[in-house]
Amino acid sequence: MKSLEIKQKILRKEAVIAIIGLGYVGLPLAVEFAQKGFRVIGIDTNEQKIKKIKQGISYVLDISSATLKPLLKKGLLKCYSDYRLEKIDITIIAVPTPLSKSREPDISFILKAVREISRYIKKGGLVILESTTYPSTTRGIILPLLEKSGLKGDKDFLLAFSPERVDPGNKKYKTKNIPKIVGGVNKESTKIAELLYKQIITKVVPVSSSEVAEMTKIWENTFRAVNIGLANEMARICNKLAIDVWEVIAAAKTKPFGFLPFYPGPGIGGHCLPVDPLYLSYKAKLEGIETRFIRLADEINLAMPVYTIERVKEILKKRKKTLRGSKISILGITYKKDIADIRESPAIEIIKILAKKKAQVSYSDPFIKEIKLGNKILVSRSLDKKFLSQQDCLIIVSGHSLDYNFVVRNSSCILDTRNVLSGVKGIDREKVERL
Ligand SMILES: NC(=O)c1ccc[n+]([C@@H]2O[C@H](COP(=O)([O-])OP(=O)(O)OC[C@H]3O[C@@H](n4cnc5c(N)ncnc54)[C@H](O)[C@@H]3O)[C@@H](O)[C@H]2O)c1
Repeated sequence: MKSLEIKQKILRKEAVIAIIGLGYVGLPLAVEFAQKGFRVIGIDTNEQKIKKIKQGISYVLDISSATLKPLLKKGLLKCYSDYRLEKIDITIIAVPTPLSKSREPDISFILKAVREISRYIKKGGLVILESTTYPSTTRGIILPLLEKSGLKGDKDFLLAFSPERVDPGNKKYKTKNIPKIVGGVNKESTKIAELLYKQIITKVVPVSSSEVAEMTKIWENTFRAVNIGLANEMARICNKLAIDVWEVIAAAKTKPFGFLPFYPGPGIGGHCLPVDPLYLSYKAKLEGIETRFIRLADEINLAMPVYTIERVKEILKKRKKTLRGSKISILGITYKKDIADIRESPAIEIIKILAKKKAQVSYSDPFIKEIKLGNKILVSRSLDKKFLSQQDCLIIVSGHSLDYNFVVRNSSCILDTRNVLSGVKGIDREKVERL
């Protein structure tokens, strides 16, 4: 296929780029391209999000409203809740890839987006999938769907997979300086997709196929999920042996090679770690391979909220109290520190179990004002002296950046699942336990 035209358009910043899905991945990407002078059309089916962007309000932590406003004003970023792709040269898909109720891949969001794109795709266009998915999705599922347009993938358009590695809330690594993997369904697709990302990203890493790119992403996240599973198992062993697991990890990581620190916690959350490895399991199963590491890590990680409650139960027992009727508050309910994202957060499971056990459960989180659980609404409590002193146990779940000296001083009993209290001097070990 002759891709001279799109190449020139990219180099001259004349290519019009559509970003489908303006969430944690799509919005930062749209902003990066618009800041470089590309005209970007953002499409998101969530009308509330589009309304907010149009008002210049960002709902993504890493993008400030001040960054959005000039891009909107200059017309470099336009957003819609319906598909308007008539003038588009390049389409990047960043829609969710969750699990179904039976914990299998749900790629319906990708399929819906691709069906829309296939109505607009034109000769010489480039389509890139960024949503995490199992190997072969790009070539095996998206390519034939796009070809329903009547165009042929080997001569009429370009198609690539480029996994997103963004780490929301990370102050050092952002879209711009996280190396980007690119793998096309053919050489030309890889080459043009590489050229495109080079306009906004410091380092682009081309690989030989879309399958290699898909597998790379899923391996990275499986690596983390499995290692966290191992750390969680170690934490349980250490607890039984009365060994401080955090001290062990700190000591082990002084080895300059062959050890990478991973930390235990109350469970894993977010849109990636609890989900992505199961995409690979699904694909492997179709090929007759059982993914034992993934299954085991999933089992161990999923059991951590229950284990956390068991620990609280033991702590309360020492104080001659039971879960039933005790005032228990969760400090931090997001899936990781300093972000406002509760997707798959273990805190939600912990709250549900505590409520079932008839504890008087509450939470405090500066990032989440309220949550809806069933038909009940829980509102974040302010961390004042009175509130803290009234709790029978405080469980630190997310480890946000807070004044922990104040928290420790005014609480009588804390379970710290993130080791955030290690920096608090003169801590009374009688009132603080760690995972
Ligand atoms: N969040 C992360 O840290 C992260 C990191 C790496 C990779 N990923 C992957 O990137 C993908 C997107 O994740 P995210 O966190 O940005 O999700 P998100 O839920 O924050 O954003 C996705 C957006 O897509 C929109 N959407 C859904 N269906 C649509 C459709 N048919 N057309 C247009 N818009 C549609 C949703 O309304 C939503 O705003 C997922 O595959 C995820 O696994 C996410």
